[in-house]
Amino acid sequence: MMLEIKGLIKKYGEFTAVDDIALHIDEGEIVGLLGPNGAGKSTTISMIATLFKPDSGEILFEGKDIVKNPKVIQPFIGYVPQEIALYETLSGYENLKYFGALYGLNGKALKDQIMRISEIIGIGDRLKDRVSTYSGGMKRRINIGVGLLHNPRLVIMDEPTVGIDPQSRNHILDTVKKLKTEGISVLYTSHYMEEVEALCERIYIMDHGKIIANGTQDALLEQSKIQSGMKLKFEKPVAQIVDQIKAISWVTKVKVLDEYEIAIQSTGNGNSHKDILKAIMAMDSGLVSFDIQKPDLEQVFLHMTGRGLRD
Ligand SMILES: Nc1ncnc2c1ncn2[C@@H]1O[C@H](COP(=O)(O)OP(=O)(O)O)[C@@H](O)[C@H]1O
Ligand SMILES: [Mg+2]
Repeated sequence: MMLEIKGLIKKYGEFTAVDDIALHIDEGEIVGLLGPNGAGKSTTISMIATLFKPDSGEILFEGKDIVKNPKVIQPFIGYVPQEIALYETLSGYENLKYFGALYGLNGKALKDQIMRISEIIGIGDRLKDRVSTYSGGMKRRINIGVGLLHNPRLVIMDEPTVGIDPQSRNHILDTVKKLKTEGISVLYTSHYMEEVEALCERIYIMDHGKIIANGTQDALLEQSKIQSGMKLKFEKPVAQIVDQIKAISWVTKVKVLDEYEIAIQSTGNGNSHKDILKAIMAMDSGLVSFDIQKPDLEQVFLHMTGRGLRD
């Protein structure tokens, strides 16, 4: 285990922002921390980045206590804060050079590293322009570049795509995928369900300071017994087969929409649809078409909290 958090608590005065959470990240894993605004995501990752200490609990990096000794993680962690921290009057290149020098890089090694990183963040031909002329998304990409200069083994990103254009957003998602191919671990924080679904192998869902669910996407959908839907059309009247369909395992509800069409509710992940369809086809039912509504993490959150992620 690369990073392990146990019993982590952080209070702001009387208010508990992070309330006894556990979390771990393995080498080379992309882990998502998903939750609505105010969930406690930034507070959690600020403590991993050693910006401040928890009130109680442990944060271990490769088994070593980073709360007692921040130096055991600092050389190996890249932290990309939500706020842009760049010099506007300098170019992207000069910013990377400045921050690289702070990490002790210089000469050819620094130049090579800037070139390698601008490749990863996809900034290319705009590197020599002043940061003040960049779009919000381009600034965000340089900000990520700064977090990568010292070749960290673990990168933590705090909502890196909030308020930026779709093109930059795609560049950032690509950057995270590139980091994975280089064996770098990523903790990706977001309140966008789609991003976390697209990037992360394992996901922690946070709300009101607590981790309310965690696991792979399939496991989360399975655990919370999310209902998914399917509509089916037949060339024969459906009345005779409705009872048979109700008896298929996974199926929880069957609604007759008209003489030739039904809607099915079922539990389980995407695979259960396959089993249901096989069973229906074996009935000589005259199935002509079907339409699947796959469950997603938004529904998991809704199911567990009664609220949407973006309420
Ligand atoms: N410095 C602070 N002082 C007091 N309350 C804070 C402070 N920072 C954050 N909070 C509160 O702690 C909770 C968690 O905040 P935060 O970690 O920023 O959540 P998230 O990043 O998930 O939006 C929120 O209710 C927020 O208002
Ligand atoms: Mg935040």
